[in-house]
Formats: sequence, structure tokens, C-alpha cells
Amino acid sequence: MIPVILDGDPGHDDAIAWLLAFASPELDVRGIVSVAGNASLENTTHNMRRIVTLLGVGGVPLAQGAARPLVAQAIVAHSVHGTSGLDGPALPEAAVDLDARPGAELMAHLLRESAEPVWLVPTGPLTNVATLLLAHPELKARIAGISLMGGGIHSGNWTPAAEFNILVDPEAAQVVFTSGLPILMAGLDVTEKAYVLPADFERVRAVGTPLAGIVADWLEFFFAYHRDLGYAGAPVHDPVAVVALTHPEILEVQPLYVQVETTGEYSRGATVGDVFGASGELPNARVALGIDRQAYVDLLVDAVAHYGRG
Ligand code: BDR
Ligand code: CA
Repeated sequence: MIPVILDGDPGHDDAIAWLLAFASPELDVRGIVSVAGNASLENTTHNMRRIVTLLGVGGVPLAQGAARPLVAQAIVAHSVHGTSGLDGPALPEAAVDLDARPGAELMAHLLRESAEPVWLVPTGPLTNVATLLLAHPELKARIAGISLMGGGIHSGNWTPAAEFNILVDPEAAQVVFTSGLPILMAGLDVTEKAYVLPADFERVRAVGTPLAGIVADWLEFFFAYHRDLGYAGAPVHDPVAVVALTHPEILEVQPLYVQVETTGEYSRGATVGDVFGASGELPNARVALGIDRQAYVDLLVDAVAHYGRG
């Protein structure tokens, strides 16, 4: 099994990524850390606790991560995820406690106590991971790699150039992309192809459990924002960072040298990929560019069904 630490800003697609991670026999989830992003840290932490309660995986350590980016002013995404960060269906009240340590310190502890290197799976702004790397550079050897949702070689979504997670904390992203650690990047190039159609929502709902109804309602809520932009389905971004570890065979991946723009009049937060090898630099990331969409949807439906059986 691959040991992982999840780190996100739930967020409907973060929640589905975590659901998938816990349902994947390939993964051993060692801990979860929240970060401000889609909503305030208070809200994303509350959502983390509600998701863990809903999934019934209460034994996993949870900690509250960074309340704001390293340098930048906070940005939230209420237009996408609602004011709570996880609007839509009613959820059970949180019935799990937080570890007292800050998120980056829980990560450090989990890395130290692991017998083997651990993958980090951030699906929000990269503030916690950067904080960990800056505070504990000696723990890099304990990190197997970073499988992240963020960026986009060919476009942004929050600005024309920048994807939301990288735009919120470009300085943190720069720490991550210059860390020398193995990076799997699931950016918009692939996640915009990882869309889930209304007919797929009904496949999820047809699983027939209360959890399936909640996930179908999450997908409906998340889709509403995108439908207004002209999408045929919901681009369910964050679970692709999980799939990159569990089912890499359904992704098309290209090694690329990727730099994060931290200045730029129009392009702060862009992930600049050296597609033509112009820099002469060696690749620092394996960038996912394509996905077998049907296989992806099947994995999500199977993951929802897993809880019904379990
Ligand atoms: C990313 O931004 C958030 O709204 C989603 O949760 C995802 O992590 C997509 O740009
Ligand atoms: Ca997210």
C-alpha cells in the first residue's frame, strides 16, 4: 500500500478525492490536513471533520493547517463551493476531534514515524506543504513525492493564466516546484477532461446509499456553477491527484520543466511548462495531460459503492 497524507480545502471535489482515497485499497491514508482556499480555514476545517464523520473513517489524525497564504492576500471561491465551502446537502455534524498540532507539524510527525517515504496529496493551495518543506527540510527524504491538483500548462481558470490553487499561494507553489521532490501535477490540462456528466450523477445516486445521495447532490451543486459557464459536466478536479497514484495507467503523462510565475502583470500564479525544451532544464514534474474519462467515472462510482458494502 502507498502511504499518503491528504491536504485540502474542501470543497466538493476535495471531499470526493478523499472519499476515493479512503476507498482505494492501493492507499494507506495516514492523516489529513485542512488549508484555507475554497473557504476560510475555519470552514474548510469544519468540512474536513464533517467529511471524515460522514465516511466513518474517524481513526485517522486530522489537523488544521494554514489560515492564509505565505505572502499573498487570501482568496476564497464561494462562487464555486458556496459560503460554507461545501454547500448543498445536509451533512452529519462533525464527531471527530482535531490533533492539537498545526497541520504542517502533524505532517512532520507522520513523516518521522513512517517506516517508508510517504506521498503528499495536496488538493488546495500549497501553503501547508511549503510550510513543511521550509520548516523541516531534513524531512524531504521521508517524502516519496507530491501528487497535487493545481496549475495548468495551457490555461488558467481563476485568471486567464492561473489556476485557483496556485493563484491563491504562488510563493508556496514555487517552494514545492523547486523542492527537487518528485511531483505529479494534475492541472487543468487533465482535470478539465475529467468531467462528470449529469447521467453519471444518476449512476452515483443509483448506488442507493445515503452517502451516494450526498455525493450526487455535491456533484449537482458543483456542476451548477460550471453549467452557467457552458460546461456539459462538472470538471471534478481533485480526485485526479489520487488517481495519479492509484491508476496511473488511465492518465497520459508528460515530464516537463514547470516554473511558477510569482510576479507578472497578467500571469501571477501561472505554471509555465517548458513544452518545447527551450530552457534546457531537466523536467521537475510529471504533468498529466489526458485521462480515460469513462474509467475515471467508473472509479468514482465504485468508490461510492465501496462504502455501501463496507
Ligand atoms: C481547484 O480549485 C478548487 O475550487 C477546487 O477544489 C480544485 O482544487 C480547481 O481549480
Ligand atoms: Ca480543492
